[in-house]
This record gives sequence, C-alpha cells and structure tokens, in this order.
Amino acid sequence: MAEMYYRARRLRGSETLRSMVRETRLSAETLIYPVFVKAGNNIQEPIPAMEGQYRYSVDRLGSLYDRLLEQRLRKVLFFGLPEKKDPQGSSAYQADGIIQSALQYTAAQYPEIFRITDVCMCEYTSHGHCGILEGDQVDNDKTLPYLAKIALSHAEAGAQMLAPSDMMDGRVAVIRRALDSNGYTALPILSYAVKYSSSFYGPFRIAADSTPAFGDRKTYQMDYHNQKEGIRAALKDIEEGADMVMVKPALAYLDVIQRVADRVMVPVVAYSVSGEYAMIKAAAHAGYMDEAQMVCESTVSIFRAGAQVLISYYAPEIARMIAQGRIG
Ligand code: PBG
Repeated sequence: MAEMYYRARRLRGSETLRSMVRETRLSAETLIYPVFVKAGNNIQEPIPAMEGQYRYSVDRLGSLYDRLLEQRLRKVLFFGLPEKKDPQGSSAYQADGIIQSALQYTAAQYPEIFRITDVCMCEYTSHGHCGILEGDQVDNDKTLPYLAKIALSHAEAGAQMLAPSDMMDGRVAVIRRALDSNGYTALPILSYAVKYSSSFYGPFRIAADSTPAFGDRKTYQMDYHNQKEGIRAALKDIEEGADMVMVKPALAYLDVIQRVADRVMVPVVAYSVSGEYAMIKAAAHAGYMDEAQMVCESTVSIFRAGAQVLISYYAPEIARMIAQGRIG
C-alpha cells in the first residue's frame, strides 16, 4: 500500500477530539421558542398535530416561562388566538388584544423574557388570509397600512422585536416608517423575508386557527421551486430596513439558508416549522428513529447551513441537550 499521510480518522478517534474540532457550535442564546397565546382564562390546551405544544391564556404564561428559564431559554415569538375575527382583522391592533395583553403581562412579570411578535393578519381575519381582501384576492397596498397599525400597537404594548410574516410587498418599509415616526427607532425588525408557500405549515394552522377559508397563500408566499427569488427577497427587505432576515421552513430549504447566508450581511434566522416538528414526533412514535438524535442532527444541519438563530418548537429540548453536553 502506498504511504498515506492524510488519515481523516485520526481526528475522529475520541469524543475529546471530535468535540475539539467541531465546526458548528450551538448555544441556547440563539434559540427562540414560539408561543401560542389564546384569549380567555386558565387555558393550557394541547394542540392536535403538535404533541407537547399548548395554547396558553395570558394568566398561564408564567408556568411556561418558569420552565423555559430553567433551560436558560429567554426568547419567545408570540402568536395570538383572538376572541373575535372580522374581515379586517381588527383585533390584531386593539390596545387590549391578545398579543398586546401577552406583551404587557410578560414585560411586567417576566422582564428577562425577550418579546418578539409575529406581525400578520391570518389569525385575526374571518377569511384566514394574511391581508385585506378585494374580491377573492389579497390586496397588497390596502393591507400595508393595517400591518403598520398592528406593528405600532405591538411596539406600544412592549414588543422588543417585530417579525412581519404576511409576505406583502413593501411591508418592511411601511412598518419601519411607522415605528420611526412614533419614536421606536431602536426597535428591530426580523423580516420573514424568504417564506415559502409550504405544506409544512399544516399543524400550525390548526394550532393558530388560521387556515384560509378558501384558496391558498400562493399569490403572496414564495414558490418552492425558486432559490434566486429568495436571495432577492432577502436583499430587498434589508434595503427596506430589515435588521435580520428569516428563511422558512428550514429543513427542506437548507440550500436557501446557505445561499442567503452567503449573500447577506445581516443575521439569518431559520424557522423550523410545525410540520418539521410533527414529522419528527410521528417518526419517533412509530419507533422508526430516536427523537433526541433526530432533533440534534436536524438542528445542527440548520446551523451548519448558515443560520445564526433558530426558531423551533423543540427549543426547550435543544437547550436542555446543550446544557447536558449532548449536542453542539
Ligand atoms: C402566519 C404564520 C404562519 C407560520 C408562521 N407565521 C402560517 C402561515 O403562513 O400559514 C407557520 C409556522 C409553522 O408552521 O410553525 N402567517
């Protein structure tokens, strides 16, 4: 046999060596946990299709936060289930709306929890679309002032970062302007810049009661055949004032995460969505694969692709495994 100088296995020989030369490191600081907040009292109800996830009323958020803080998890992304819906989604910008109440409670009782809000209309409109309808179409320009109004009401209630997910063109600029002209120049925007129209949102729509009453979201969310369009969307949102950009979903879009991360000079966030969570749960239940190992491997792959921050329903488990040294 010819002489062999390079032996890749030398550095794989022990856990000590492997953990020394790892290229991807995880930290609980980079994790965000999505929270579904529901109008009412004393509610903690399980979400079908998302085993282990719940909808909470504001008065029950404290017990969730205690559990998150135990895992050193400090960042949440709020989604709201309001009492009433109408065609304009007006409960999305009420001063005492569900998100606004959750923000006020959290800021007062758990100031150590970092408060991010999803800015969208689909959970608040009676038709379930992410904007104002004109006939059976979502009207982009009519929707923009509503989004600005929602964003401002979140800012006033104490949001610390806003994440618009509606996919209307020009929304980041409109939201930035509304914030700045009301004194919220320091409030960052995390844009759902690269959001695909995806079947992986299925369980979320059950969770948030936001399935469109007719049609789909293909006229505003992205076509999953496209990659360049995603880069363009991210660049455009940054130009409009986005401080961070998101790619969503994560697992089936690692190529997009990588290319966006290569091209943009702002932090890239990945959202591992409800369907990704449900898939791992289902495979684990069937006994096909080990849940914890699937979570570790898929999570690392998202960071390896170039994400700097991850939104995940598994965030508490990931944080626990980081603390235990089982991952990253
Ligand atoms: C709201 C929104 C959705 C998700 C995040 N924000 C649903 C959708 O666009 O239909 C999906 C999150 C998930 O599946 O976990 N527009």
